[in-house]
Amino acid sequence: MPIIDMQNISFSYDQEENFVVDNVDLYVNKGEFVAVLGHNGSGKSTLAKLMNVLYTPTKGKILICGMDTKGDVEAWEIRKHAGMIFQNPDNQIVATVVQEDVAFGLENTGVPTDEMKILVKDALKDVNMLEFAKSAPHLLSGGQKQRIAIAGVIAMMPDVLICDEATAMLDPIGRKEIINTVRKLNKEKGITVIWITHFMEEAAMADRVVVLSEGKIFLDGKPSEVFSKVDKIKEVGLDIPPMAELAYNLKSNNVQLGDNILTVDEMFKELSKLLCQ
Ligand SMILES: Nc1ncnc2c1ncn2[C@@H]1O[C@H](COP(=O)(O)OP(=O)(O)O)[C@@H](O)[C@H]1O
Ligand SMILES: [Mg+2]
Repeated sequence: MPIIDMQNISFSYDQEENFVVDNVDLYVNKGEFVAVLGHNGSGKSTLAKLMNVLYTPTKGKILICGMDTKGDVEAWEIRKHAGMIFQNPDNQIVATVVQEDVAFGLENTGVPTDEMKILVKDALKDVNMLEFAKSAPHLLSGGQKQRIAIAGVIAMMPDVLICDEATAMLDPIGRKEIINTVRKLNKEKGITVIWITHFMEEAAMADRVVVLSEGKIFLDGKPSEVFSKVDKIKEVGLDIPPMAELAYNLKSNNVQLGDNILTVDEMFKELSKLLCQ
């Protein structure tokens, strides 16, 4: 069973035929790390909110772990399976002590207190923030606050984590902390990740990249496949990872490089092969 199954969905904010998500079919399997890219206004956040039952589709249907977001299952039940992390860490902190903040979602699920303490501790360990359990969230850095927000979602043991530009307001160190934390949760716990971003280098480390344009899926494939379509990516106003663009330009000038170059390391290997022949 797929974790997310979007069947031909469209969504309009004004109930007119003005669809900001337009005929999207998206099928995400367990354990996938899917980056969603697209320029401002392409529909990324709306798509995320549709997965999190903040909205329901105007047309078509979405199944999250088999549950129809327009069906009888309560929204909070679906949100236990698909947790969301937003851009601004300050808007996601609700308590004055870290461990209480992480416990907040659990408190509404009826988990016994003893069990809750264990879940909170484990979640804080997972995001490497256990030593801050008794700290005041407002004293933490942006990256640390985001990790607390992630712990609050992870404590509920979701199947999928939806991150909507979760690193956009962070400095480079905070960004690395978050991406590494989420990658680790994906690899070690098999949590499916929807990673919405406008940072190319973040998309490059996903298993799969979906590019949205005007509410439609414009490209969908492995990062190396998607970023080799340089002209198409530029057509929708996105940048290419620098090494992918360099590889594309060199290949257009008949330099015999291999495919799938995204990083400095990969470029170095390919150039070394060529130069040391
Ligand atoms: N609450 C809203 N009411 C009306 N229109 C909205 C609302 N939120 C977003 N939109 C419009 O929907 C389109 C998609 O927006 P959004 O999903 O936020 O895109 P992205 O996250 O890719 O920037 C944009 O044209 C935006 O102006
Ligand atoms: Mg957005």
